[in-house]
Amino acid sequence: MDKRKSLCAPSILSADFTTMDREIKKAENAGAKWLHLDVMDGQFVPEITFGTKMVRDIKKKTNLFLDVHLMVKNPENLVSPMVEAGADAITFHSEAVIHSHRLLQAIRKENVLCGISIVPSTPVSAIEVLLEDLDLVLIMSVNPGYGGQKLIPSAIKKVELLNQIRRDKGLDFKISVDGGVNRDTVSVVKEAGADIFVAGSAFFGSANPLEELKILETI
Ligand code: DX5
Ligand code: ZN
Repeated sequence: MDKRKSLCAPSILSADFTTMDREIKKAENAGAKWLHLDVMDGQFVPEITFGTKMVRDIKKKTNLFLDVHLMVKNPENLVSPMVEAGADAITFHSEAVIHSHRLLQAIRKENVLCGISIVPSTPVSAIEVLLEDLDLVLIMSVNPGYGGQKLIPSAIKKVELLNQIRRDKGLDFKISVDGGVNRDTVSVVKEAGADIFVAGSAFFGSANPLEELKILETI
């Protein structure tokens, strides 16, 4: 087990959408480098969040790296519009797509980081063949769709396995962990090999997000 320096990506799913510019400032002032944007379509997951309009408006307000997580059916339709809106990384769900390999190439062609995500019931083996072709693997550590859920421990085993495969094959994709990451769970997430951890409720639900990010990144 190696504990690496990991970066916290605050997820605006837990922010107040009516005061988004203030919420973004919280992430900036706390020293975050990435901002995690959860796009939900009411199909792949039950809830609907936002589309390109929100991403474009956020891009105008910040230089933070925009990490777009597509929890949608037919994510191929959103790649170019999201890049045009200002996405710096686009991650789609393996479960939503038949031709994942083709979609990764399409995202790469747009000169943004390309990522794939798996839900808690999908094994790492489902994406193993793609690991050489991607920049980011996002392991969902809760069932996607809602903030504030409890981390599912089997997700940690998947992060460990991915980290091991990465080492064995000499690959350099990043591992991101999304869901239920907070002061109590961040340590196991990092020990398992995560480079990025998403924090929604832990960050935006904190009375002192600046302090919270510092704690989460240094634990
Ligand atoms: C859930 C989203 C997450 C969410 C995490 O489907 O993908 O990014 O914001 O929220 P927390 O950190 O509260 O579990
Ligand atoms: Zn997410």
